[in-house]
Amino acid sequence: MTLSSTVLITGASSGIGATYAERFARRGHDLVLVARDKARLDALAKRLQDENGVAVAVLQADLTESAELAVVEARLRDDARIGILVNNAGMAQSGSFVQQTGDSIERLITLNTTAPARLAAAVAPRLAQSGSGAIVNIGSVVGFAPEMGMSLYGATKAFVLFLSQGLSLELSSKGVYVQAVLPAATRTEIWQRSGMDVNALPEVMEVGELVDAALAGFDRREQVTIPPLHVAARWDALEGARQGLLSDIRQAHAAERYRAPE
Ligand SMILES: NC(=O)c1ccc[n+]([C@@H]2O[C@H](COP(=O)([O-])OP(=O)(O)OC[C@H]3O[C@@H](n4cnc5c(N)ncnc54)[C@H](OP(=O)(O)O)[C@@H]3O)[C@@H](O)[C@H]2O)c1
Repeated sequence: MTLSSTVLITGASSGIGATYAERFARRGHDLVLVARDKARLDALAKRLQDENGVAVAVLQADLTESAELAVVEARLRDDARIGILVNNAGMAQSGSFVQQTGDSIERLITLNTTAPARLAAAVAPRLAQSGSGAIVNIGSVVGFAPEMGMSLYGATKAFVLFLSQGLSLELSSKGVYVQAVLPAATRTEIWQRSGMDVNALPEVMEVGELVDAALAGFDRREQVTIPPLHVAARWDALEGARQGLLSDIRQAHAAERYRAPE
């Protein structure tokens, strides 16, 4: 990807997405900002244009609405200036699993999994064709922590990590860089939006620190960046254990412990 690539960021009206927009604008990238709140996007676009001299376009879309998602897909497919997609828009879970409704489950899964998958699929063929570009997917450490009590949200973030790792394997040989970024608790509006008090948490990362760390990982072309993980070797150990497990999957027969006694 070239320094001049335009960056399309979903969920750019606040929090992590707005901070990515600021950082990429400072680096000289033109931007396409996507979210529902057009007034906020317009204000951010104007400020970033004035401060950095970059071009910032606004695309209002509710990514849980298939027709609006399709407009963003079309932009990613057709606008050859876009070389970087940041799949950031997301929502957390309000309440426990038994408090969910069919609608709330569908909205959460659509925003956190269907939208990033469809958007990645819209841009990937063009990036692979050009032999360059990047897809950044914002997951969460909750994606490997069912203990945290956010089963649905965590499941969507496990999807994001898996999708990122799979896409990285499929696309890196074609020159396309795929990064999964896994924050832990970060001070943004997501807490308030889902009815939680961020100030009740014992530890919270400031959003600027999170995005700067994520971009350090981006610059190193890390596949998985976990800013709050202090001992990087723990991730390597988890990956090693996963590979070990895979090496012991034998498809022809059930394991000894499941065989009926003769
Ligand atoms: N903050 C944390 O502790 C934390 C930790 C781990 C992972 N994350 C992940 O980080 C990402 C960004 O979240 P954040 O913490 O920055 O929260 P945030 O401040 O609430 O930002 C969420 C963004 O997504 C947009 N959005 C929400 N619903 C949307 C919809 N239906 N269609 C289009 N855009 C929508 C929001 O804009 P509009 O309301 O204008 O649409 C907003 O720009 C999420 O994927 C989240 O899961 C956050």
